[in-house]
Amino acid sequence: MEDATVRPIGPSTGRRLSALARHLGGDHPASPSSTSEAAPMASLNHAIAPSHTSAFHGGSVFGNVVQAPEDPILGVTVAYNKDPSPVKVNLGVGAYRTEEGKPLVLNVVRRAEQLLVNDLSRVKEYLPITGLAEFNKLSANPAIQENRVATVQCLSGTGSLRVGAEFLAKHYHERTIYIPLPTWGNHPKVFTLAGLSVKTYRYYDPTTRGLNFQGLLEDLNASPTGAIVLLHACAHNPTGVDPTVEQWEQIRQLMRSKELLPFFDSAYQGFASGNLDADAQSVRLFVADGGELLAAQSYAKNMGLYGERVGALSIVCRAADVAGRVESQLKLVIRPMYSNPPIHGASIVATILRDRELYNEWTVELKAMADRIISMRHLLYDALRSRGTPGDWSHIIKQIGMFTFTGLNTEQVAFMTREYHIYMTSDGRISMAGLSSRTVPHLADAIHAAVTRAV
Ligand SMILES: Cc1ncc(COP(=O)(O)O)c(C=O)c1O
Repeated sequence: MEDATVRPIGPSTGRRLSALARHLGGDHPASPSSTSEAAPMASLNHAIAPSHTSAFHGGSVFGNVVQAPEDPILGVTVAYNKDPSPVKVNLGVGAYRTEEGKPLVLNVVRRAEQLLVNDLSRVKEYLPITGLAEFNKLSANPAIQENRVATVQCLSGTGSLRVGAEFLAKHYHERTIYIPLPTWGNHPKVFTLAGLSVKTYRYYDPTTRGLNFQGLLEDLNASPTGAIVLLHACAHNPTGVDPTVEQWEQIRQLMRSKELLPFFDSAYQGFASGNLDADAQSVRLFVADGGELLAAQSYAKNMGLYGERVGALSIVCRAADVAGRVESQLKLVIRPMYSNPPIHGASIVATILRDRELYNEWTVELKAMADRIISMRHLLYDALRSRGTPGDWSHIIKQIGMFTFTGLNTEQVAFMTREYHIYMTSDGRISMAGLSSRTVPHLADAIHAAVTRAV
């Protein structure tokens, strides 16, 4: 018996799921399915498809629910946790680790939390739908001075992307978003489920292991007027390859001339160069021309606030009155989704950003994280050279940010996991932030063995 009452998925969600399944299934003309982060397609289609069920399967109304595949990135940690080997190394997820391999809570964050705890006037009331006003003001870029930006506190970078995408799907005339190929594995899912149609633009050139700038310009030039374009503000994930400032300027000119709408994803500000201002240059170029854009910011990596889920969506508009109306509509997106955001993480960020001394301490700690990652790049590069590992590994020191896109293929990755207990995404991306001088030799041995022995 088909019983509509046991199916919680409405027609519009069903349509979005079908669109996502089609997209991930490779129907798409330029599907990112070639990136291994996009998961085994058949099983993913199967897993996200709504279950058309008869009431009882094995005694449960949910008996027909199929097992979903693990998330391609977070699943790496699940596999790592199950491995009893003492030499195992997790280079999958993009989370910073100390030289001792431990998660790091920044000292400045501890200080801010202490201040918050000691302030007995603080209460646990609901925040407004748009979040903590001071956090929003301090997070927004200088366009705030012109009052032409609507900034809302969201659930870290992912939540900011999702709220921005939902807003665009409802209020923007062009529903197509172009994302770089490859990109963070969650991007196509976030945008498709929000109701946008996802296409890709060329970004990475595997032969040079650098930017395919010509391909990028050609694809953006061929996109329809008004299309949305997702840009990684800095430290592109997974490739570690960013445009130069001159190239950003060319991208800006092309996008403005074609009225393409920039949607910046800023998840790693400070991690590329160690400097917050230098890493914001791309976004600031687009703000400075007076045009419009969206920016999703995350404090997960640069303040180490991963689990606090603190981020911001800014929609920079041409004029203050437009920004006001945009903010009113953002509230309508957020209210039925999670009502209002959590208070603790945003209070930590506001405490640090408002105080010059704490802010300076943050920049020093951030630079130390970025510098440790850069030193890991040099250690790994030297270790491969000293082993005489075949191939040109200079991209390890040229790429920037948290990740190195090694160029190792799926078989080589599987070999390294099987034989050396090294865990990484199957596209060959390694998190440099997860390495230490103790684990680099083991990784270098594994890479050496993989490229000299694996098929
Ligand atoms: C490119 C990119 N965007 C956004 C995010 C979102 O991170 P979070 O939601 O933890 O802030 C990540 C996290 O890995 C990322 O790599």
